[in-house]
Amino acid sequence: MRKLLLGLGLMAAILPASFATAQSTHLAIDASKPGAKIDRNIFGQFAENLGHGLYEGIWVGPDSSIPNTRGIRKDVVTALQALKVPNVRWPGGCFADQYHWRKGIGPAAQRPATLNSAWGGVVDSNAFGTDEFMDFIQQIGSQAYVSVNVGSGTPQEAAEWLEYMTTAQPTALEKERAANGHPDAYKVGFLGIGNESWSCGGDMTADYYVSQLKIYSRFVDNVNPSQQSKNQMLKIAVGPGFPETDWTEAVMKAWKQHDWSWNIDGLSVHWYTIANGWPPTTPSTGFGVEDYGKTLKSTLFMDEFLHKQEAVMDKYDPEKKIALVVDEWGAWHAPLPGTNEHFLVQQNSLRDAILASLNLNIFSRHADRVRMANIAQMINVIQAMILTDKEKMVVTPTYYVFKMYVPFQDATFVPVDFDPGSFHRDGITLPRVDALAARDAAGKIWIEITNLDPDKPVDIDAEITGMTAKSAKGETLTAPAVDSVNTFTAPNTVVPEPISVSVKGGRLTLTVEPKSVTVISLEP
Ligand code: AHR
Repeated sequence: MRKLLLGLGLMAAILPASFATAQSTHLAIDASKPGAKIDRNIFGQFAENLGHGLYEGIWVGPDSSIPNTRGIRKDVVTALQALKVPNVRWPGGCFADQYHWRKGIGPAAQRPATLNSAWGGVVDSNAFGTDEFMDFIQQIGSQAYVSVNVGSGTPQEAAEWLEYMTTAQPTALEKERAANGHPDAYKVGFLGIGNESWSCGGDMTADYYVSQLKIYSRFVDNVNPSQQSKNQMLKIAVGPGFPETDWTEAVMKAWKQHDWSWNIDGLSVHWYTIANGWPPTTPSTGFGVEDYGKTLKSTLFMDEFLHKQEAVMDKYDPEKKIALVVDEWGAWHAPLPGTNEHFLVQQNSLRDAILASLNLNIFSRHADRVRMANIAQMINVIQAMILTDKEKMVVTPTYYVFKMYVPFQDATFVPVDFDPGSFHRDGITLPRVDALAARDAAGKIWIEITNLDPDKPVDIDAEITGMTAKSAKGETLTAPAVDSVNTFTAPNTVVPEPISVSVKGGRLTLTVEPKSVTVISLEP
């Protein structure tokens, strides 16, 4: 008997996950009850002048041996094009409140070297400035989200920056832009008025910030003729990076009383997953299921965080005119050993991919208010899409999640009724399953299922009403372990694979692997 038990134990250890005892979950998806639009801008990214995010990650310079277009890496551009990145926030972050845009325009040789005192005091050549950022945005097919300097700049400096970027009139700044090789006015989709003004942006009180907000909103304008009546630039105010709501209260109360002279369209909030509190200590490689569980538990707080801020916004803005913009989110782990601690370098594992899908699902469930979000950050910094090392580049598990979610951009939220179930590991209880559904413009239904359980597969039985699904297909992202990563030498450890699904008589059935992210499409 003992031998038999030992044998069974050994078998369980070597059998693939799909043979382990599966749990089952029933999903009820009613495609005839669509909800809010899942704004494509919630799949936005953040590219700060920090560490190797811009320099090396994007910018290698026109003379580099790394293939580039006008100094911008070709491999990175190609990878990002596939994500249909809707907007990129730049130049910061904390860096934005010390950035003086004039230092980053004109002939490269004449740009001054400055110190990046926000991030390690390293020397900044200013080679990647406004025109290079706009070139990058155009190469990847995205929109600019520019943060202006409220902390150490002036409203005049910010207004002139916007004029440099957006005027089509023959002003001195237009001529300067043309002389720099850019006769056509740029479009700026979004304007961030300061960054974390309660901390690195100038340690302001909420009331002081509100007085600055009014001035910047009044005087900093986008004058691009194509952005006047439609596609207007949205102005985004600083909101909190903490669950307390007094800052939100102050900004929303002021907005409620605003007159013709100023306005905002969004309120920014920042919320990172930092599993063990500040400073970040969770390793980004070589961790186990306990760290995985703690991190996912911590990330799920995003839902409560948003509800708290939304309750205040609803009080002043029941029509939901002001968008909640989560323009910094992601998993912030300990710096990789041997790296500059100011460069915020971390690896990116299957755990981060699962965490990304949970957050994207939360944002989608809040789609009536959360209409924009920016993962921090795009390349080589915190929860990155892409890692580079000189000529080498690898895409991360988080990159694949963003790729799998492309069909959800601007799709209509469809409610999914399901019991998430739960599992218990190392003193932590987590939901076993999360799910999201949406209908795209062509009438296809897209379903995402995250299986958080690191050990057990889940049999999914989904009942689809409101559409007749003729066929289904899907793909799954999983890997051997929760800490599996893609590296320059093993880039395909965590990649999506096709999955077997069946759809018959309005029922979709499939089995999702442990610790996985799955996206399925149903053809009408
Ligand atoms: O993303 C890194 C930093 O985190 C940003 O510069 C800042 O806004 C936040 O505190």
